[in-house]
Amino acid sequence: LLQPVILSGGSGTRLWPLSREAYPKQFLPLTGEHTMLQETVRRLDGLEREHPRQGAGLVDPIVVCNEAHRFLVAEQFRAMGRRAAAIVLEPEGRNTAPALTLAARIATAEGADPVLLVMPADHTIADEPGFRTAVADAFALASEGAVVTFGIVPGKPETGYGYIRRGQPYHGDGLEGAAYRLEAFVEKPDAATAESYLASGDYLWNSGIFVLRASRWLALIERFRPDIAEAVIRACAAVSDDGDFQRVDPALFAACPSDSIDYAVMERLTAEGESVPAVVLPLDVGWSDVGAWSALWEVRARDAEGNVCDGDTFVHEAADNLLIAQHRMLAAIGVNDLIVVETPDAVLVADKAHAQDVKAVTESLRRAQ
Ligand code: GDD
Ligand code: MG
Repeated sequence: LLQPVILSGGSGTRLWPLSREAYPKQFLPLTGEHTMLQETVRRLDGLEREHPRQGAGLVDPIVVCNEAHRFLVAEQFRAMGRRAAAIVLEPEGRNTAPALTLAARIATAEGADPVLLVMPADHTIADEPGFRTAVADAFALASEGAVVTFGIVPGKPETGYGYIRRGQPYHGDGLEGAAYRLEAFVEKPDAATAESYLASGDYLWNSGIFVLRASRWLALIERFRPDIAEAVIRACAAVSDDGDFQRVDPALFAACPSDSIDYAVMERLTAEGESVPAVVLPLDVGWSDVGAWSALWEVRARDAEGNVCDGDTFVHEAADNLLIAQHRMLAAIGVNDLIVVETPDAVLVADKAHAQDVKAVTESLRRAQ
């Protein structure tokens, strides 16, 4: 079985004022007609036709999200005419390592041991058939026990990503693309380290998508972070299922330490040496995690002047702007490289080069609460 697990608990604060705590970016149609969560689900359509052997095992996804967003998730599946295998609710986010542990426990509850395809709910991928080919290869490798990551050729010394050092070619049966040994995994290096990784040419960005057997994840988290494994197991002892949502014990889950898949496990993987083959598949498919408004400007179609315009906009002698008008007309004249996002109750005006700083707004709003 190939079991997609969609991590949908993030808050997307750098995309304020469209992305809000109550309505984060994965639930918005930022990159196309469908929301990012819906795009994540639909991206796998075609796997069975294009890769019959691997695609035959594909089942409905498990979604792990915050209790507060349960109706958004359920409604977005309903609107697509699709089902989730489970919508698992976290009373409070504890980052991705507990979320994946939760999904792995639920996926193995009835004695099955599927290969998990772990996907963030808020990424965009331009070349979807190319992505499915990589997933088919990853499924083949993970079925044999490998931990599979996907590496993106880095374009800048970004410090918000994980970096993967690519080793020798890794050979597996019937692979369509290239695969390499994962020699090292470094999560969010400092700027100087990121610069040196970029210059060396030996490193790829971690895409945040992982493929591995459920039992493999459970063994790894038990080995490297037994505190997380045991807290989640305790919280899962009494999963309640009301037919729509699965809930764990809120107090026990809240007691779980918070950590990411990357820090908790991936950085320590290579310490295990040969016993756990860790692999990186290069992914050249127009991937973006749409982390900030500048990233959205990069992935969206632009007009001849480089503007991305949404809604009722007017542009004159202006270039390379991202303009979103939800509620009133927005006119931009003689300005370049701006982000302007107009909503009924808030307006953002920012220099594109400062797109990362937008989280300062949400931080200040949270402090004021
Ligand atoms: N269910 C759940 N619960 N999901 C969560 C939680 C949580 O507590 N926290 C985050 N997520 C979801 C987010 O919605 C997002 O889809 C995904 O997990 C990744 O979390 P981020 O918080 O966005 O991680 P990151 O961007 O700092 O880093 C990760 O992604 C990078 C690529 O975008 C790492 O994997 C990096 O190594 C990687 O380069
Ligand atoms: Mg992210």
